Amino acid sequence: MTAIGPSLMCADMSRLKEEVISLDKAGVDYFHLDIMDGHFVPNFTLGPDVIHQIRKLTDKPFDIHLMVQDPGRYIELFKSAGADMISIHAEADPHLQKTLQLIRSSGLKAGVALNPSTPIDQIEYVLDVVDYITIMTVNPGFAGQKFIPMMYRKIKQIAELVQKEGYQIQIQVDGNIGYDTIPGVLENGADMLVCGTSSLFKSNISREEAMQQLSVFIDGLKEGSA
Ligand code: DX5
Ligand code: ZN
Repeated sequence: MTAIGPSLMCADMSRLKEEVISLDKAGVDYFHLDIMDGHFVPNFTLGPDVIHQIRKLTDKPFDIHLMVQDPGRYIELFKSAGADMISIHAEADPHLQKTLQLIRSSGLKAGVALNPSTPIDQIEYVLDVVDYITIMTVNPGFAGQKFIPMMYRKIKQIAELVQKEGYQIQIQVDGNIGYDTIPGVLENGADMLVCGTSSLFKSNISREEAMQQLSVFIDGLKEGSA
């Protein structure tokens, strides 16, 4: 099953409540919430208070993508804001294994995220404490960027590593995931899509319509490869 998660930083912030309700109704599988500190990445987006506010609008899992330095400081904060899953960057935490254990011991699903240039051997010794791996397919910090083609090979390598080691770990891809890139990321082993400006947040159609078109497209790919 391919999980579809809207990247809420791409939403119309002046209508965030309506956006969450319409995406929930459209049948998304989870919500991807990008958190940025202006340090690990040169941008700012949502914060814990916003997350707390929208938490009551949907029961779908909140996947918090912490693009922040030393993320271990914020696990409790985002747990109490309503997180169900938290991914942290391998590049942002010298105590990666410890923080991933902290996320899990807080009762949340733990994810490790890798920037495009980060080799996969950075996660070799944390596979036993992660539930998902977030492969950045653009450089983190901004929506609307172009997919980095080398990431197809990285997705395949990570999928092969996970399978070889025998772990049940989801493979999430994040950045310019749209009609041009979804065939390749699925073919190489991704099963959790972060969908932003190139798939769900289109100016000319409703979120329900966008989700419907995306689901039909993905189902068609699955049937084609069956
Ligand atoms: C970028 C974020 C992505 C981004 C996706 O740092 O992690 O989730 O918002 O937006 P698109 O799909 O437009 O690349
Ligand atoms: Zn993200």
